Parts: sequence; structure tokens; C-alpha cells
Amino acid sequence: MSDRPVLIAGNWKMNGSLAAADAFAFQLGEHLAKTRAAAELLVCPPATLLQRLGERLRPLKVGLGAQDCHAKPSGAFTGDIAAPMLAELGCRYVIVGHSERRQFHKEDDATVRAKAEAALAAGLTPIVCVGETEAQRESGQAESVVGGQLDGSLPASGTVVVAYEPVWAIGTGKNATQADIAQMHGFLRRKLGAPGAATRLLYGGSVKPSNAAEILATGDVDGVLVGGASLAAEDFWAIAAASPAR
Ligand code: 13P
Repeated sequence: MSDRPVLIAGNWKMNGSLAAADAFAFQLGEHLAKTRAAAELLVCPPATLLQRLGERLRPLKVGLGAQDCHAKPSGAFTGDIAAPMLAELGCRYVIVGHSERRQFHKEDDATVRAKAEAALAAGLTPIVCVGETEAQRESGQAESVVGGQLDGSLPASGTVVVAYEPVWAIGTGKNATQADIAQMHGFLRRKLGAPGAATRLLYGGSVKPSNAAEILATGDVDGVLVGGASLAAEDFWAIAAASPAR
């Protein structure tokens, strides 16, 4: 067994309903009844669906994750959700520092790091997201931006997953090329130093059934973080089925 089993993670963002969650779990269950998944599967629905989807996914051995958490374990933070609350619901992972949180909620690296620390303290594995904008890539700053985010967002110790999601590839249908992904993931792996050997590096940004096999076969890619295509069980399963055996 590899130190870095392939992880296929779905990020539903602000999408989904109870009915959609039930249908998703049912359809995924039909596939899993026939074929064992070659990868670890994880779904991160909105907070409103964690309980329901968690109940449906548990018997399928599909993991549950959240999309964000607060840096504090409790307190007067209206509207926020603490990491221990997510752990109590059965989450094993939580996404932190997604570019949509960085952009729309003005989260900086220090905030992301504090959230990742809170996740670890609650027994969750943070999926720490990094990624450059199109303008930053075009001006040759992709590695310096992503490297800086990694330096600022990673907790001092503890097991994390890192997701490289170029902002310009999210929800645009424009995925990064295999060469660009290999280069950035190799850079991240080297930058992580010794712990990098056991740190899973996911790619995210317009991953779909038609490009999943190529992306998953790219050097230093240990899985994918899938947005839009993870909402349909058939597409999520097709992406999972493209995983190389490890
Ligand atoms: P899309 O797969 O919809 O491009 O979203 C990627 C993403 O942001 C996953 O976190």
C-alpha cells in the first residue's frame, strides 16, 4: 500500500438538496455494489447536508468532509461552524483556504493556517488549497504565489492534504495542462521537504470524466478535488474509475 493512496474528493460548494444527496448516494452505492473503488472516495457537501449524506455514505465507506471551519473551537461567531462540530457529524476532512473563501471572504494565509490547525486539533485532516490567478500565471509568478501560500497556510506539523487549484481553471472548463500540473506538483513536493513524501497532492480545476485519467496519471498527482462534476454520481464515479491502482 502506498503512503499516498489516491484520493478522489468532491466539493459540492453551495449546491445540493436532501433529495439530491439521497439520489447521489443511491447511485454511487449501485456502482460500489458491483465494483470496488480503486481510490479513497470523499464528498464535501454544504453543511446542511453533512448529517444526511454522512448517514448515506457511511455504509458505502465513502468519506465525508466539510468545506470550511472556524479557527476557534466554539464561541460568539454567528454563522460559523467549528471543527469539533464537524468531527461530531462524522467528517474526516475539511477543505480550508479554497480560492472562493480567499476571494469572497477575504481569507488570508494566516487565517487558513489557523483553520487548518483547528481542524487538526479536532482530529480532522485539512485539505489546504493553494492556486494562482490567471494574471499571476501570465506574469510568471505562479510558483512564487503558490509557494508563498503554502508557506503561509500550512500548519507547523500534522498530516494534511494539499490541493493545487489554479483559480483560472476553476469552473471554467479550462484545465491546466499535464506539463503545468506536473511542474507545480513537483515544485510543491520539493517545497514540502521530508514530510512531502507522505503528503497527498490533489489537482483541482475543471476535472471531469474526459480528462481525469490523464490528470491522475500525471507525476506527483495523488488525487483530484472535483467541483461541478462531483454533483452527478455518474461523473464522480467515472472520475474515480479513472484512478490508477496504487
Ligand atoms: P470545478 O471542478 O467546478 O472547476 O471546481 C474545482 C474546485 O474548485 C474544487 O474545489
